[in-house]
Parts: sequence; structure tokens; C-alpha cells
Amino acid sequence: MILRRGEGQSVLVTGSSRGIGRAIALRFAAEGYHVVAMDIPRQEAELKEAQALIRDAGGRCDLVFGDVSDPESVKTFVAEARAIAGHIDVLVNNAGVLSLALVDDIAPDEWDRMYDVNTKGTFLVCKALLAQFREAGKGRIVNIASIGGKRGAPLQAHYCSSKAAVISFTHILAQEVARDGITVNAVCPGIIDTEMGRNNYRDAAALQAVKDKTAMGRLGYPDDVVGAVAFFASDDASFITGQALNVCGGIIFH
Ligand SMILES: NC(=O)c1ccc[n+]([C@@H]2O[C@H](COP(=O)([O-])OP(=O)(O)OC[C@H]3O[C@@H](n4cnc5c(N)ncnc54)[C@H](O)[C@@H]3O)[C@@H](O)[C@H]2O)c1
Repeated sequence: MILRRGEGQSVLVTGSSRGIGRAIALRFAAEGYHVVAMDIPRQEAELKEAQALIRDAGGRCDLVFGDVSDPESVKTFVAEARAIAGHIDVLVNNAGVLSLALVDDIAPDEWDRMYDVNTKGTFLVCKALLAQFREAGKGRIVNIASIGGKRGAPLQAHYCSSKAAVISFTHILAQEVARDGITVNAVCPGIIDTEMGRNNYRDAAALQAVKDKTAMGRLGYPDDVVGAVAFFASDDASFITGQALNVCGGIIFH
């Protein structure tokens, strides 16, 4: 039997022009979901490239643009996504930003930028879809957090604490909406080979150090992350909510 678990369903993936988000969009399209891929206008060329990859493989993909940290923009692109797809069944909050600095050197605006995109963005997009999910009596939310949100890392106080907030938000929202048929889970990637992930290993020695601290002895790749996301969106995860699953090759164990 061929599993087409996304047949008749649609998914909104934020920040899907590249990296982990693009891989998630491609995976959902391969499962038969109608993908609405979202990113900031500056990423239009890369988002169109992702769309072309999906369409060339026979999948369905439409695009919306905006900024997850801007409440008005979120309302607009969520409404556009709903108009395009008819309804959204799965939301993947993947959009995120990272910068590196010691606490001494983090400018207050940079602190806010991390929280605005990573934390407030996740909250805003969830909020914009909750009424539709409630009306349908079902909905799946998968928040891309980070193992950094569980253990922290030097130079990433603003990033890691914003991701810890995403994990906490996941725990709380899951409890608030469980009886409406909505599940809310988080995936916590380890160090994944993307533009963002490469901040963790800018030279050969740092790359080796990353591999050494990973039980599996290697980096993660975007395709390593997508299975967990697809699982949380699937019927197989119907009794799972409020969880934060590490996908890190064995860097942390709780
Ligand atoms: N790469 C890693 O090692 C790693 C580890 C743990 C968690 N993560 C998380 O995974 C997610 C994807 O990261 P990635 O590694 O693919 O990074 P990336 O930088 O390659 O991709 C991030 C995407 O988010 C988009 N984005 C940024 N600001 C946005 C905004 N305001 N509105 C909409 N989209 C916006 C970017 O344009 C980009 O397409 C992020 O949430 C990140 O924090 C990544």
C-alpha cells in the first residue's frame, strides 16, 4: 500500500525558502499535502525555487510572503494561505533567526529581533489559525524549537532563551487546545547543516568539535529533521501533544 497521508490536506510552512523549512515543505509535498510555503519578500527567488522543485516532482505548492514578527502581516498571509488552500490542516512554525554575541555585547534591539521572530512569530501564527482549527475540530501545530532551548549555549543567550520560550509556549498551548482536537508539539534540532547551522562551525576545528560532541559523530542535515515533523502532523501522533522531541544525533538526552 502506498501511504499518501497528506491527501486532501494542506500545510503552511513558515520560513521555507531554504534550509530546514524548504526540506519540510518538500517532504509534505511528497506525502501529498498541498503546501503553502511562506517567507519574507527578500527570499522570493529562493522560495520560488522551492516551489519549482515541488511542482517538478508533481506536488502542489503555492506561495505567500510576509513577516512572522509583524501582527498585521501575519493576519494577511494567513488569510491568503487559507484562501489559496481552502483550509489549513497543519501549521509548521519554522521561521527563525540566530546571531552570536556575548551577553555583554547583545544590543537590546538584537535581543528583541530574536524574540520577535522566534517566539512572538510562533505565537502570532498559531493565534491566527486557532479559530479555524477549532471550527474544524482538528489541527496540527509543529513548532521548530532547538536543543539550544533546553541546554543553552555560549554566545546564544538571546537565541536559546527565545527557543526555550517556544518550548514552554508549546507545553501551554497544547494544554489549552487539546480538547478542541488540536495537537501542539515541538521539534528540537541539534546542529544542522544550513546557513544558520554553519554559525556553529566556521572552521575545520570547530566542525570536528561539533562532530565530537555528537554521539553519532556527524552533523545533521535538513532531511534528518523532516521525518519528526511529518510524524507529529500525522494520525500516528494523534495521542501525542505538548512534547518537544530532540532530533540531534545524540547531543542531549532529555
Ligand atoms: N540549523 C540549525 O542548526 C538549527 C538548530 C536548531 C534549530 N534550528 C531552527 O530551525 C529553523 C530553520 O532554521 P535553518 O537552519 O533552516 O535556518 P535558515 O536561516 O537557513 O532558514 C530560516 C528561514 O526563516 C526565514 N525567516 C527569517 N525571518 C523571518 C520572518 N521574520 N518571517 C518569515 N520568515 C523568516 C528565512 O528567510 C529563512 O528562509 C529555525 O527556527 C531555527 O532556529 C536550526
